[in-house]
Amino acid sequence: MTHDPYLEELAAATDGLFRRSLSAIALTAVAFVIGLSAGNALANDSTDSGVAKGWTPATLRHALAALPAGDEVRGREVNQQLFCASCHGDNGVAPTQNWPHLAGQKSAYTAKMLLDYQSRLRLEGKRAELMHDIAVMMTPQQIADVSAFYAALPAPGDDGTPRPSVLGEGMSAAQLVRKGDPSRLLTPCASCHGVKGQGGKLEASALAGQNPLYFTRTLLDYQSGVRSNDAAKGMSTFAKKLTRGEIEALATYYADLPERNR
Ligand code: HEC
Ligand code: HEC
Repeated sequence: MTHDPYLEELAAATDGLFRRSLSAIALTAVAFVIGLSAGNALANDSTDSGVAKGWTPATLRHALAALPAGDEVRGREVNQQLFCASCHGDNGVAPTQNWPHLAGQKSAYTAKMLLDYQSRLRLEGKRAELMHDIAVMMTPQQIADVSAFYAALPAPGDDGTPRPSVLGEGMSAAQLVRKGDPSRLLTPCASCHGVKGQGGKLEASALAGQNPLYFTRTLLDYQSGVRSNDAAKGMSTFAKKLTRGEIEALATYYADLPERNR
């Protein structure tokens, strides 16, 4: 990997916490395996092979519609019992500077990510590997419940994560979000993610208040192809057209958006 001060500095700052959380997960995993019925284990195996081929819009719609109705009260319990809270916070605001916030996230997007982690469709190195190990322990009901819980929470405010220093060149974030860039066939971000970054149709995610370090990293992952779980491949295409400076400006724009929306 190329030297990248912004990503490296913050990743190092949270590395210890990552390892501490991992041992908590290892303990939970052991408890789960002991309690897991054989039937459940088999069900998880079949999910593993089923979805990994990737989505078409139709199969995705079908899979999301097949999930049971979510209950945010039960979802709060799932967030605690499966230790999601140790990394993503009691209220979906991650306590570290490195992990994504989930507060205010659309339930369809959260559910899709958990299915993608289960099937390894989303697999960006050891971070996604970790989420895979957690996601395979989840039942469809737990996925629906925890997704409903995050969706009911307000978008995170300023999380204190240092903003990237925009080094590169490019268009202003506000312009990309509202107007896009027809010369590069870049659709305005707001047309899918909402004018207030609240998320859009189906799995188009909420972006308002997202941790700018995570935001930057995941767009770079789409750009390099390391993240390729988007069903229509729209995000992969858009990310490849953005400059590094534009990605960082967009990360800051969305991180500050909840404050501006108030
Ligand atoms: C040990 C820390 C840890 C625990 C525990 C954990 N996560 Fe994660 N989560 C992560 C990391 C790391 C990522 C991926 C970040 C990246 O790709 O850079 C992630 C990503 C996610 C994403 C994708 C976010 C996005 O914006 O795309 C969702 C959804 C998620 N986790 C839900 C959960 C749920 C639900 C639980 C509990 C069942 C949970 N996580 C437990 C660390 C954790
Ligand atoms: C045509 C619709 C569309 C447009 C336009 C679009 N996106 Fe997306 N975006 C999506 C969808 C759908 C996803 C979820 C993809 C997946 O399943 O991984 C997504 C995911 C993302 C994510 C990952 C969210 C997370 O929590 O990990 C980021 C960041 C993002 N988009 C930023 C942008 C930015 C910045 C722009 C404008 C330059 C943009 N998007 C334009 C549809 C769109």
